[in-house]
Amino acid sequence: MIVVCGAGGFIGGHLVRQLRLSGKLVRAIDVKPFDEWFQQDPQAENLQLNLSEKESCERALKGADEVYNLAADMGGIGFIENNRALCMLSVLINTHLLLAAHKYGVQRYFYASSACVYAADKQQSTNVIPLKESDAYPAMPEDGYGWEKLFSERMCRHFQEDFGFATRIARYHNVYGPWGTYDGGREKAPAAMCRKVIQAKLSGANRIEIWGNGNQTRSFMYIDDCIAGTLSIMASTIDKPVNLGSSELVTINQLVDIVEEIAQVKLQRDYNLSAPQGVNGRNSDNTLIRSYLNWEPSISLNEGMRKTYKWIYEQMTKDKFTPAPIGYVPSTSVIAK
Ligand code: GDD
Repeated sequence: MIVVCGAGGFIGGHLVRQLRLSGKLVRAIDVKPFDEWFQQDPQAENLQLNLSEKESCERALKGADEVYNLAADMGGIGFIENNRALCMLSVLINTHLLLAAHKYGVQRYFYASSACVYAADKQQSTNVIPLKESDAYPAMPEDGYGWEKLFSERMCRHFQEDFGFATRIARYHNVYGPWGTYDGGREKAPAAMCRKVIQAKLSGANRIEIWGNGNQTRSFMYIDDCIAGTLSIMASTIDKPVNLGSSELVTINQLVDIVEEIAQVKLQRDYNLSAPQGVNGRNSDNTLIRSYLNWEPSISLNEGMRKTYKWIYEQMTKDKFTPAPIGYVPSTSVIAK
């Protein structure tokens, strides 16, 4: 039995889907009510549980062979900069899950960490040197969210050393794709840009707001690469944290160029310099993952953004009133109303 914690979220939903496609027995867990899960597989054992509670974690992991912990209160930079305490409370989830995993003899435990563990002084320039795993120390991670991730990584390491079950840790670099958050405040830049460009296009407003000056650099990993890498890391012998991210570096302005090209529009850009911006530059050094797996994320930003844009466009337009075709004449009964 494989347990996926955070199954109602973006990455968790895709992971359950992939595990089910390969015929695995899956228990899927999330704190959100079922109607708020991004994806739900009826063949999985779906449970709504608050995993920050010890009893819920024990209920979740009883009978489990493998556990994927993707459960966390998180979001894009707009969310994590303004909710540091909430982000830190995810420590309860990982702590209680590790204890339950030890109690029930779980064999393998995956922890979803983040590039936010990396030290701030190594991310000050937009002209980045890709981050290698050792750059997390000396520690000065992203306030709140990053500290929690770094602490929880360390806890996984010591559970592995002291209690003898395998823990696997991936440091995700900005993941995007369909069936993810694109509005409401937790969205990351790729989804936010799609939403803003679609809104500008549909409304005819012709302008969008961009946080910062647009010169910040990032790499963005498409969800299919994230799932493939997650499964491979879990099955591997990599017993220390490893980067899982694309190494295709772009500025935020270049990300917007891609979305404009997909949408076939050219918009005026309003730069909001007081909006959350996070680090100036961040990229993934993939030497370690390549050396173990002979693999690294390779789906291009262009290809991934096309699929993401299409899905977000469908979500934003599906419930809308569809205008009548030109030349349509309403029936008299409709006019009488
Ligand atoms: N979210 C968002 N929305 N970001 C925008 C926007 C916008 O409308 N406009 C410009 N940006 C800029 C942000 O200011 C930031 O400099 C950059 O795009 C990337 O923002 P995010 O995608 O929100 O987050 P991040 O890359 O700083 O951090 C994310 O990735 C980490 C892993 O690499 C977060 O999701 C973290 O939680 C995650 O750990």
